[in-house]
Amino acid sequence: MRVGVPAEVKPDEYRVALTPAGVRELTEHGHEVLMQAGAGEGSAITDVDYQAQGARILADAEAVFAEAEMVLGVKEPQPREVAMLRPGHLLFTYLHLAPAPQLTRALCESGATCVAYETVEDARGRLPLLAPMSEVAGKIATQAGAFMLEKPLGGRGVLLGGVPGVAAANVMVIGGGVVGFNAASIAIGMEADVFVFDRSVDRLRELDLAFAGRASTVYSSVLAVEEMLPRVDLVIGAVLVHGARAPYVIRREQLSMMKRNAVLVDVSIDQGGCFETSRPTTHSDPTYEIDGITHYCVANMPGAVPITSTYALTNATLPYVLALADLGLEGALARDPGLRPGVNVAAGKVTYLPVAEGTGEEFTPVAEALRPTRTTT
Ligand SMILES: NC(=O)c1ccc[n+]([C@@H]2O[C@H](COP(=O)([O-])OP(=O)(O)OC[C@H]3O[C@@H](n4cnc5c(N)ncnc54)[C@H](O)[C@@H]3O)[C@@H](O)[C@H]2O)c1
Repeated sequence: MRVGVPAEVKPDEYRVALTPAGVRELTEHGHEVLMQAGAGEGSAITDVDYQAQGARILADAEAVFAEAEMVLGVKEPQPREVAMLRPGHLLFTYLHLAPAPQLTRALCESGATCVAYETVEDARGRLPLLAPMSEVAGKIATQAGAFMLEKPLGGRGVLLGGVPGVAAANVMVIGGGVVGFNAASIAIGMEADVFVFDRSVDRLRELDLAFAGRASTVYSSVLAVEEMLPRVDLVIGAVLVHGARAPYVIRREQLSMMKRNAVLVDVSIDQGGCFETSRPTTHSDPTYEIDGITHYCVANMPGAVPITSTYALTNATLPYVLALADLGLEGALARDPGLRPGVNVAAGKVTYLPVAEGTGEEFTPVAEALRPTRTTT
């Protein structure tokens, strides 16, 4: 198979979807790898590094899309990339379609088959291709929140860990999954007082054991959230309902319960945001203020640390990339049923229920969407 890797074009996105190690694995399996010139630059990988492992370097994204059968990405395709997609392309990247009806429609119209990293499941129903970036984003969330609490940046002017004789800040993490665990771990390391909220009692049990008394776990009812809000300095929103638009865990009217210049970090912004007042921001302009509360809502947080994130991401994606290249989509689906929920769009149809529900598109099961393709080829 010809596997193409264009450079990422989203603002402040420095990751790349394949490393030289991935090029080597693919070429050892008999595939051809087409890299856009400079695609690895942001992650400190040169064209020569890719060429040394067997990649062919193409001048621009147009050339990559024109020649490739499978296109690998990191962030969701931007409009100029969607325009280059065609039937027969297999696109494998983060998509986050549930809160994005326009992109979903455009992908349907492209005729390409679009597999989303974030909805691929492992044998235990976990999200193996979201997890590495959630680990990174969780750690950044606390770092960014601590920074935004500094007075010159518009924060309250409190130090997360306090000092002897002065109390530490209160950090509330809503959603104790992969992001939440990592955000809380860093907050604990910075010696803040940490409270992790979740709606899964089983998950709270796991967290309670993992934190061994260094953080409190709280069942996330509306009342419990409201009781905590007046006490917090930093709130990190990290909830996820697999593939669906994020639920709101803080409404606009609840902002008035918080201390002035407290900070909200909405990591769930890529699924539409879990605070009612959230809207996506960028690393260049990461925050805005509403009702006296600083909002940090960067939708590609791991993009800021590409040398860590590129390797963490591709370690996880490479086995799936190899399976898709070796066996084709249907062969890979037959071997690994966890890949099936990854297929969000096929043959012009939305094939993942939470995306259909989030966008108002009709839902078609993957097998049904792929069937006509089989009979016409
Ligand atoms: N902004 C970024 O750059 C970035 C990067 C990585 C991940 N993310 C996003 O972060 C979010 C969290 O990802 P994750 O990997 O930690 O997911 P996860 O599935 O591991 O964890 C989500 C947790 O939220 C809990 N939850 C669901 N609804 C809840 C509610 N109403 N109240 C409290 N808890 C609730 C779940 O029980 C689960 O424990 C996702 O939207 C993901 O896409 C964003």
